[in-house]
Amino acid sequence: CGIVGFVGKEGDALPFIFDGLKRLEYRGYDSAGIALAEAGGIALKKTRGKLEALGQIIGGMPRGVPCGIGHTRWATHGRPTDENAHPHTDCSGTIATVHNGIIENFQELKQELEEKGHRFASDTDTEVIPHLLEEYGAQQDLVKAVQRAEKRLSGAYAFLAICSTQPDKIVAVRRSSPLVIGLGEGVNYVASDFSAFLSATRQAVVLENGDMAVVEPDNVTITDMAGTAIVRQPLTIDWDIRQAERGGYAHFMLKEIMEQPDVWGDCLLGRTEGDRVVVEELGLTETQLEQVRRIQVVAAGTAYHAGLIGKALIERLARIPVDVAVASEFRYQDPVLQRGTLVMAVSQSGETADTLACINLARQQGMPTYALVNTVGSTIARESDAVVYTHAGPEIAVASTKAYTTQILVLTLLALALADVHGRPRPDLVRSLLTLPKMGADILAEMEHIEDMASRLSTNRDVFYIGRGLDYALAMEGQLKIKEIAYIHAEAYAAGELKHGTLALIEDGTPIVAIVTEDSVAEKSISNILEVKARGAEVWAIVDDRLKTRVPVDHLIPIRVPNALLAPALAALPLQMLAYWTAVKCGQDVDQPRNLAKSVTVE
Ligand code: G6P
Repeated sequence: CGIVGFVGKEGDALPFIFDGLKRLEYRGYDSAGIALAEAGGIALKKTRGKLEALGQIIGGMPRGVPCGIGHTRWATHGRPTDENAHPHTDCSGTIATVHNGIIENFQELKQELEEKGHRFASDTDTEVIPHLLEEYGAQQDLVKAVQRAEKRLSGAYAFLAICSTQPDKIVAVRRSSPLVIGLGEGVNYVASDFSAFLSATRQAVVLENGDMAVVEPDNVTITDMAGTAIVRQPLTIDWDIRQAERGGYAHFMLKEIMEQPDVWGDCLLGRTEGDRVVVEELGLTETQLEQVRRIQVVAAGTAYHAGLIGKALIERLARIPVDVAVASEFRYQDPVLQRGTLVMAVSQSGETADTLACINLARQQGMPTYALVNTVGSTIARESDAVVYTHAGPEIAVASTKAYTTQILVLTLLALALADVHGRPRPDLVRSLLTLPKMGADILAEMEHIEDMASRLSTNRDVFYIGRGLDYALAMEGQLKIKEIAYIHAEAYAAGELKHGTLALIEDGTPIVAIVTEDSVAEKSISNILEVKARGAEVWAIVDDRLKTRVPVDHLIPIRVPNALLAPALAALPLQMLAYWTAVKCGQDVDQPRNLAKSVTVE
């Protein structure tokens, strides 16, 4: 979910909050709402559906009110209905709260409050907060009531509370789910992430777990839950606000695909010298790299797929074993972590709850932890011993593109650095790596034909993706993209495994997307393509340009690659484009696919 708060000496909270919610809509978009605190009471509007729906009903809300909170929701407890939309209020209508995360003991609190006469209007866990605040005297002292209420809640969450009797403050609590405060002049902001207030300020303070902040127009007081003052240093955010806007493209996803050559340049900048990788730029020292005997990657979704590419690169170049685990599994499997293992979280947002839990678990076991993340100041970045950033800039579309390919680039740098530190002879890939931005731009410039290919693909209900080695890892990402945004059922298979079962499903017209960039196994992959062709499959193939005459397929997408080990980021481009155009042809909501959210801060 996305949270925004605005409190000023004067000013108009409503348009600011609405705009901030638009920038956070990627965090959830099944319902939304805004509450303003003014002396007469709370003004509240909320509705199911996207922000557009909220936009249509806030016309009548009071203007010039300088204190308010807003929310865009990704449903956990309770269906996405008007009643379950946030903000939630107490019985008197003087207290309002927005909340991200889960309150685990809400059932018992709700029962207790109902017995005391509180009437609930929704099925959400959140609604217990305003009722608890009312119970604890928020109308007299909001800060004290929040301190008392917080002690009663268990779970992982963040929330904001306002009260119409004290419309000069927002009280914010962080327990696991992220919250950042934006520092203005005579006005301050609170949000789930920086992008909500970047148009107004670049000065921000990141709240830590267990922090409570009283945000007033001229003052931000941070304490622990017992009220002891805490100092948190402000930081300056250098993200370019334009990157968080669509800039003429039909969708954020298309913009983010097209941005990749530039952000690859940003990602590689200063991290190489001649044919060497500048180790310190990866956030680790040579000594730390020397000590690595094994790497355990933990990640979710697309980041997991980047981890699989990283495994292949690190094992082949540095001969260091790498395991890659889905974070939501790893954390519950009582994993065996041996000395010398570096536990590495890969995450765009740096906030995925399961991935974060894996890092905490590793730390408890005394393992060194390392974060590969995109979002500066994010929780995973801060809770890991070391961090390397992808520098992809804000990624807004739910389906990850530029974050994925920059993760691949950083993993390539890491593989090369590990090879050097461990004295493994390796090819000179560093200079070729620096040519990727240009090669990527060339590939993207030749993508007109892909729209027609996607039209054809969009008529199918199921599609298989196949490849071997790195191409298999890419196939897994390809199938996720098309599932996520085009809602077409897709499966990825190791090409050589097809004959052990899946081949039975191939008949006339079955669509297959094949990837062939790994020269060492290209012959084998081509044989597998011939096998499916012989059974009537219609094949879309992304192939190394040098092999194009050898691959007899229906829809050919040749790409130039400098070396098979550097092919993944380049081959990802047509895979992303194919998924993008297929989703457009299917008429789907590309940037905000149903049921999904970009940043999953619940377990
Ligand atoms: C969500 C997003 C995916 C993303 C995954 C992991 O499911 O929809 O696009 O890959 O979370 O997110 P992270 O921020 O940890 O990379």
